[in-house]
Amino acid sequence: MASLEILKYPDAALKKVSLPIKTISGEIVRLIEDMVATMHAAPGVGLAAPQVGVLQRIIVIDLDYEDPGKNLIKLVNPEILHAEGEVVWEEGCLSVVDFTAEVKRAERVEVVGLDDKEKEVRIDADGLLSVALQHEIDHLDGKLFIDRISRLKRDLYTRRLKKMLRTGKTRPESPRLMI
Ligand code: NI
Repeated sequence: MASLEILKYPDAALKKVSLPIKTISGEIVRLIEDMVATMHAAPGVGLAAPQVGVLQRIIVIDLDYEDPGKNLIKLVNPEILHAEGEVVWEEGCLSVVDFTAEVKRAERVEVVGLDDKEKEVRIDADGLLSVALQHEIDHLDGKLFIDRISRLKRDLYTRRLKKMLRTGKTRPESPRLMI
């Protein structure tokens, strides 16, 4: 397993729509393992393939970063079948340096996809898992959580980011928020 480089906003790859996977080849299985290793090393609780520069529809989620692997979710071609309710959650992202914000999303989602053995997986989620699934599936559609906040807040962040990149100063975030 290798740890991959995580692309950071405003990298252009993060804005692209990822393609569905037709066959889960050995190469894809290895990529999924590398994504899991990368997420755990970050540390974060979710990662989508475009964040490591691969424009294919794969996400991994492991909310229990203190006991990694126990509740690991690997999903290929995930789709939201049903969404309901509304919840506001503070989100961060491994691709968005030094920023978290409250984002409004569906409270509950039903998601279907394939695992790394091409077996169908259905997940009924609420709470952080629901938020993480929506956040990661957004990545596959070229969307970041900062696309879901007000333009004013996004502009403030973009300006602060430019300054941070100039001075090289960033603050570490809580891994729990890093989806
Ligand atoms: Ni993210």
